[in-house]
Amino acid sequence: DFSWKLADHPKLPKGKAVAVVVLDGWGEANPDKYNCIHVAETPTMDSLKKGAPEKWRLVRAHGTAVGLPTEDDMGNSEVGHNALGAGRIYAQGAKLVDIALASGKIYEGEGFNYIKECFGSGTLHLIGLLSDGGVHSRLDQLQLLLKGSSENGAKRIRVHILTDGRDVLDGSSVGFVEILENDLAQLREKGIDAKIASGGGRMYVTMDRYENDWGVVKRGWDAQVLGEAPHKFRSALEAVKKLREEPKANDQYLPPFVIVDESGKAVGPIVDGDAVVTFNFRADRMVMPAKALEYENFDKFDRVRFPKIRYAGMLQYDGELKLPSHYLVSPPEIERTSGEYLVHNGVRTFACSETVKFGHVTFFWNGNRSGYFNEEMEEYVEIPSDSGITFNVQPKMKALEIAEKARDAILSGKFHQVRVNLPNGDMVGHTGDIEATVVACKAADEAVKMILDAIEQVGGIYVVTADHGNAEDMVKRDKRGQPLLDKSGKIQILTSHTLQPVPIAIGGPGLLPGVRFRKDVLDGGLANVAATVMNLHGFVAPSDYEQTLIEVVEN
Ligand code: 3PG
Ligand code: CO
Repeated sequence: DFSWKLADHPKLPKGKAVAVVVLDGWGEANPDKYNCIHVAETPTMDSLKKGAPEKWRLVRAHGTAVGLPTEDDMGNSEVGHNALGAGRIYAQGAKLVDIALASGKIYEGEGFNYIKECFGSGTLHLIGLLSDGGVHSRLDQLQLLLKGSSENGAKRIRVHILTDGRDVLDGSSVGFVEILENDLAQLREKGIDAKIASGGGRMYVTMDRYENDWGVVKRGWDAQVLGEAPHKFRSALEAVKKLREEPKANDQYLPPFVIVDESGKAVGPIVDGDAVVTFNFRADRMVMPAKALEYENFDKFDRVRFPKIRYAGMLQYDGELKLPSHYLVSPPEIERTSGEYLVHNGVRTFACSETVKFGHVTFFWNGNRSGYFNEEMEEYVEIPSDSGITFNVQPKMKALEIAEKARDAILSGKFHQVRVNLPNGDMVGHTGDIEATVVACKAADEAVKMILDAIEQVGGIYVVTADHGNAEDMVKRDKRGQPLLDKSGKIQILTSHTLQPVPIAIGGPGLLPGVRFRKDVLDGGLANVAATVMNLHGFVAPSDYEQTLIEVVEN
């Protein structure tokens, strides 16, 4: 007999305003010149750190602590916010796909059987991110899927690649294309007609999120479905090498291209009777392309042609929308998240970020579920992001605006929880621009200050933490931690996230003086934060949640 009712915390009061601040891409690392958080002026975060060990500590934000396959997997926003919001560690998409591929179960499931119907006369198209980053997709999974699909009846295969440079080093696209080309050549030797059909950089083609810019998805549609793009090449390797020769070219932003035959005809547009799989497991950047591929009624851009295809996602990307309706691997069943519990227990919630991270504090926080649990109890505010720019140009992003919204929500007295994501460290860190990332970190710190000041005014409580590392290390390092140089002696810029732990700080006038971090949760991670926050709202977390990080000692 399940109940949403949470037990009262024996010592902690209800009704306090609790600010939950997530700094995106803000890890803890040794101070050096590639640590932008260290280089930046961050007086607010510095002062929180002085509260260690009772009011400040580190938590794990990568690897198995957030449900990723191995300790070599860096953290990311999806698994980080899932853990923060759900309070438990779920085997995540990366791992679930590994298991389904290893056992072969992926080929027995509903999703594969559905697309398989097309293998007789249609082509199998695989669309996704080509890298070994392990954040949205993984090259080895694509390789296994290619092999397995061909063994299970696919005779004609077209791969539509998106180059990375964001979860992996810029320039690595060339090597990944070589590996894929080699695999496809082997398939051709076995009589399978397998080729790369189109491509483009992930941030410019297909992989937009939270409806920031449908033009990105349209460029992908034109290349993948219509076989049209400004650049045409005879091979993908030639395409990537040539496009990278342009000044300032960057894997993340390569323009769309299609591969053509000797007569100039695209080798793999998507047509009636074909099967399509988007092979990314991560949800946020697949929801928009999935809508374009699946929805009969669609008005976000002119699709020109809407082919009758059988489409499956690697996973189902949105549990509320049930999108897509067919998928190869069942997503983690993240249920009973802290957000859902709290609305059932009278906690009024306000959540806010700017577009590019808005779904992180709503959709990911709520277990990959769009929409409200209870509209009366929750308010989600999205501040439009600047679109069409790389964020090193505007490193302050909308941090101030987010903080103002949070401040106003706190001062309004209408909410018990005010939750925000401050994107700067991550979004600017991903550009690899060190100077801009320093500006970004300062802006995020100022935003934290504004929120803490509001909490001070209302006698509330704050929890300040992060989802994973990024800005604290901007250079690729060797095993001893020394910066790695490329052939020309230049440092290799790290655009990706890191394996670093992240800080968590608690405080505010509403925090009982006896509240402090326990000493016995040594390996605490992001999943321990939900129980902690529930305590600060005056409740005991459900027994299957990861344990709280705090205790109350009598003074
Ligand atoms: C992205 O999608 O921008 C990166 O691959 C991961 O960044 P995030 O996990 O911080 O969103
Ligand atoms: Co990121």
